[in-house]
Amino acid sequence: MTTAQKRIMVIHGPNLNLLGKREPDIYGHTTLEAIDAEIAEKAKQLNLSVTFFQSNHEGAIVDIIQATMDHENGLIINPAAYTHTSVAIRDALQMLTIPIIEVHLSNIYKREDFRHRSLTAAAATAQVAGFGARGYLLALEGLMHLLATSS
Ligand code: DQA
Repeated sequence: MTTAQKRIMVIHGPNLNLLGKREPDIYGHTTLEAIDAEIAEKAKQLNLSVTFFQSNHEGAIVDIIQATMDHENGLIINPAAYTHTSVAIRDALQMLTIPIIEVHLSNIYKREDFRHRSLTAAAATAQVAGFGARGYLLALEGLMHLLATSS
């Protein structure tokens, strides 16, 4: 008997499209394209279907979170700078009933004070921070665990 393939949405916030070039000493040399390819590979191994979305615009991120509501089984999101500022993204996340993993490449708690507060984390199921690009794969494993134990 085959189990239905679970669907995962991965959302990348502002400036993450420039990973690889952007402050590599903080965010690493891996491009977003390469990160997505690694996630896609791991998702395949875990028999998960994965969709990717990146935007530099808050409203576009709210729209995709709303669209995620009825169509996906889990969400991985790096809200990037909106982590620290966006009540709109937090409210959108709060509406979802699926597991949400918030990812940060850097350890935000080790950086400037304004990064220590995540407005969005309280709407997430769990957070991964400080593992660089690998954090997304850890998030995927964590999500898989949550999905396997929740139904
Ligand atoms: C980030 C941390 C945020 O503070 C920052 O604004 C980002 C990336 C991270 O992945 O470490 O853009 O979310």
